[in-house]
Amino acid sequence: MTEILEFNIKGGDFNQAGKASSKIKKQLIQLGVETATIKRIVVATYEAELNVVAHASSGKLTAVFEPDHIRITINDIGPGIENIDLAMEVGFSTATKTVREMGFGAGMGLPNIKKNTDELEIESTVNKGTTLSFRVNY
Ligand SMILES: Nc1ncnc2c1ncn2[C@@H]1O[C@H](COP(=O)(O)OP(=O)(O)OP(=O)(O)O)[C@@H](O)[C@H]1O
Ligand SMILES: [Mg+2]
Repeated sequence: MTEILEFNIKGGDFNQAGKASSKIKKQLIQLGVETATIKRIVVATYEAELNVVAHASSGKLTAVFEPDHIRITINDIGPGIENIDLAMEVGFSTATKTVREMGFGAGMGLPNIKKNTDELEIESTVNKGTTLSFRVNY
């Protein structure tokens, strides 16, 4: 059976970051997904959620739970990503001073999402926004 969870994410709201990933984690535990797999999904989801908070204005996260995999899609309204290949590189970050002072902006999020997922797609339009979608098999 397919289940769907949706969350709104507010740009700049670091207190709310992690809400979607923790709800998704609870659902995965209920579904009996292996702990190591849950960890991969939670890391990827948290980094994607945080990227909306740190870099965009607002976003919507949709989690689709299928019998053998999860698909997470995050649509945001924001500045978009000019060069996706560059953004995927370890250490590349345009995070502001304020965001860095909060301990983010190491340029590790996207590489971590890539490492922890089985499929990753990013589409982005500068000055419009970004859609990031990934799949993790159970
Ligand atoms: N949703 C997004 N909207 C706009 N730009 C983004 C988005 N996600 C990522 N980026 C761009 O890609 C860069 C790299 O992202 P990545 O998550 O790897 O690092 P970071 O967010 O800067 O730092 P960290 O994730 O380590 O805290 C960001 O600095 C930003 O320029
Ligand atoms: Mg990040």
